[in-house]
Amino acid sequence: MAKYIIEKSGPLHGEVEISGSKNAVLPIMAAALLAEGECEIMDVPALRDVDVMCKLLESIGSKVEEDYENNTVKIKTERIVEEEAPYELVQRMRASILTMGPLLAKTGHARVALPGGCPIGARPIDLHLKGFQALGAEIERGHGYVEAHAKKLIGAKIYLDFPSVGATENIMMAAGLAEGITIIENAAEEPEIVDLANFMNKMGAKVKGAGTDTIRIEGVPSLHGTKHAVIPDRIETGTFMLAAAITRGNVLIKNVVSDHVKPVIAKLIECGVVIEDTDEGIRVRGDLHPLVAADIKTMPYPGFPTDMQPLFMAFLSTVKGPSVVVETVFENRFMHVGELNRMSADIKIEGRSAVVPGERLLQGAQVICTDLRAGAAMVLAGFMADGTTELSEIYHLDRGYSLFSKKFRSLGANIQRVSE
Ligand code: UD1
Repeated sequence: MAKYIIEKSGPLHGEVEISGSKNAVLPIMAAALLAEGECEIMDVPALRDVDVMCKLLESIGSKVEEDYENNTVKIKTERIVEEEAPYELVQRMRASILTMGPLLAKTGHARVALPGGCPIGARPIDLHLKGFQALGAEIERGHGYVEAHAKKLIGAKIYLDFPSVGATENIMMAAGLAEGITIIENAAEEPEIVDLANFMNKMGAKVKGAGTDTIRIEGVPSLHGTKHAVIPDRIETGTFMLAAAITRGNVLIKNVVSDHVKPVIAKLIECGVVIEDTDEGIRVRGDLHPLVAADIKTMPYPGFPTDMQPLFMAFLSTVKGPSVVVETVFENRFMHVGELNRMSADIKIEGRSAVVPGERLLQGAQVICTDLRAGAAMVLAGFMADGTTELSEIYHLDRGYSLFSKKFRSLGANIQRVSE
């Protein structure tokens, strides 16, 4: 099993280019199933999750061409041969459930393995299913799978009890080919939803209001192939912003949409980090002022992103003063606290809140990635810790970061990948 060996690193400096968004490309690839012709997706990040989605689409019947060098994937589905996302793939990547909406819309049938719990929470899919039911599908469960059938999907008004990103996407995709108008209320407003809507509209769909809490989809009889470049990854952007801040460095982050990282920018400024939003990208300077604590509370977009919470917590462990971190999106997203505490962060958990004392001289230790973003948080902590940090179970990082250690090394970080 591979590991990262991380040594204390001085202030990071230089420039880094952000890749396409993981959370945008996965639903877009699933939505390509809806098209009659070929879809060419550009700015695709080289990630394990993208490989899994390619395999899944191939097993469904798509012809998939991955061009790693040019970050392009071409998808063409002439005939769906298997209306199913099997357990083997859903277990490797939860986003496999995003094929359910397109399969249902295209063939009237979808069978998807229930994803089960994951390290950050139970993560049910009841809101996805509630949406399909409202569109006229019958839902059956059994043997670890959920199946949806519909002779015809008919547009409906759907209120989501929580603005779930995945449920909004799955319902949007199913409604794209339904008869009549679908309105999703209390929809998720994440930039990835807007990117999916833009992609669907290029295929000929009629989606309006993406990026607000009410999305209107007028179903059309068929969709055609198109070309689309994926938005930059706002969580990767935030990861490098935090890396510059925690090491008290000076880094220019290129290929970013600064609007997408507004809450992260606001919190970093509160902590004393200087952010320059320029035409070239976002420059993050942690070297100009003493850094101080700030409280954070995760919320659906445009609130502070839950995916940035572990990384921000690592950063807060190193600044002056205590802070409180409240996680409201997932019920169990504090697995990284035990690992940070192995590095002497001394964080205490009280229900959905964590108290970070701050001003800790972190110490290198053997730690694990408990999930994707938690793993990135351990890497940042490792850059500031005295001695060596040995990070294992790094397959989580391969899922969601493109050229992870190479990008950090180009900024002067001391991180090496080794095979045991
Ligand atoms: C997506 C992102 C993930 C991010 C999360 C929240 C992708 C591939 N993943 O995950 O990186 O952390 O948004 O920003 O885009 N819920 C229900 N019932 C449902 C669906 C969700 O109760 O049917 C709950 C979940 O358990 C969770 C909350 O809603 O507590 C948010 O989940 P959701 O927005 O659906 O996240 P994902 O789409 O799974």
